[in-house]
Amino acid sequence: MKLLNFNRPSQRWIRFLALFLGAVLILLLWRNIATIVPTVTTPQWIEIAQTNEPIQAIPQQIEVDPPKVALGEKLFQDVRLSTNNQKSCLSCHSFSLGGTDRRAHSIGINGALTEVNTPTVFNARFNSRLNWNGKFTDLSSHLDALMSNPQVMGVQWPEAVRSLQQVPEYARSFDRIYPDGVTPTNIKDALVAYELSLNTPNSRFDRFLLGDKQALNQAEKEGYRLFKDNGCVSCHQGVNVGGNIFQPFGIIGDYLADRGNLTPGDLGRFNVTQNAADRHVFRVPSLRNVAVTAPYFHDGSAQTLEEAVGKMTKYQLGRTLPTKQIESIAQFLRTLTGEYRGKPL
Ligand code: HEC
Ligand code: HEC
Repeated sequence: MKLLNFNRPSQRWIRFLALFLGAVLILLLWRNIATIVPTVTTPQWIEIAQTNEPIQAIPQQIEVDPPKVALGEKLFQDVRLSTNNQKSCLSCHSFSLGGTDRRAHSIGINGALTEVNTPTVFNARFNSRLNWNGKFTDLSSHLDALMSNPQVMGVQWPEAVRSLQQVPEYARSFDRIYPDGVTPTNIKDALVAYELSLNTPNSRFDRFLLGDKQALNQAEKEGYRLFKDNGCVSCHQGVNVGGNIFQPFGIIGDYLADRGNLTPGDLGRFNVTQNAADRHVFRVPSLRNVAVTAPYFHDGSAQTLEEAVGKMTKYQLGRTLPTKQIESIAQFLRTLTGEYRGKPL
């Protein structure tokens, strides 16, 4: 028996429905084609910015907890969190210096030099790994380690808690937010809340990504094209233009042998895993605000962006780019400087 006979009056509506759906389909396809067409007429790298870029803009608004952020901000600047009141977080992560101290190695407790260059604290929340060797995946355990690190804060929690408790203003601030007052957990909680708020949106490059095609000049756009075409994006990508994968420093050619004077910090991820394959492997650093965080590399050996880009092309890509192209890439990198609380870094 025939199930569907379109000529039977009772089933004629199915034919109308099919016709109607067909018309809707054609209309939808037409609209899609219409939106695709303009993209073909503009250079590819401009259009990708709107659609499928390897780098994403830092969100303008991020949910924060204002009372905790305010308390964390005070703690960040307070030397009471270090042994004998010698250092605060700000000593090495200065906001007027891009969240770093612009030294190859920072001066820690009792003048001890840090093993590696100090990275910026800005945008740390977008790094899936923290530190050059990527040892930490969350800010709280990172804080535990840096507090007791004899080169950094060199303090045990009970000592830090005692010195904060002696300040009535702190006791009050903690009590207002935390029922159990000044404790290591609560100190960490407030500091982490603050660290999570240290984001720098609204760089010129982000404005470009979000559709403002005038935000970059021609040389900077060319630099971005070179950054992509030469494969820098294979390692430096995502919201932080890095911060999310491990790679050896010296894929082609041996950077560290050429530099000489190996230090324990040069072993990189090996220091975490003790795995021979992880020698000289590092977390690919973020390039956000890189224009204001010289010197570069874990050893602080490169003084300028051009020098750093030159070393990258040589040791990571095995290429020699013309000086002009290196300069263009550096110009593009300078567009990654964002704003903190509405002011450029
Ligand atoms: C003596 C200098 C010094 C002080 C003081 C200091 N830091 Fe750092 N900080 C460093 C160095 C060096 C590193 C990199 C360590 C490594 O890679 O092994 C670092 C790394 C970090 C990172 C990881 C950034 C990233 O993306 O990998 C954060 C976050 C951070 N510090 C926050 C803080 C906070 C919060 C304080 C205060 C409680 C603080 N630091 C105090 C020198 C310092
Ligand atoms: C194979 C992965 C890889 C590629 C490709 C790569 N990089 Fe890197 N980049 C790294 C690693 C790893 C480091 C950290 C090296 C170190 O100091 O130990 C780094 C560091 C940097 C730094 C220094 C950042 C700082 O804060 O110290 C800059 C600038 C940089 N890269 C730019 C570039 C550019 C431009 C290109 C393309 C020409 C490029 N990179 C290609 C992995 C890569």
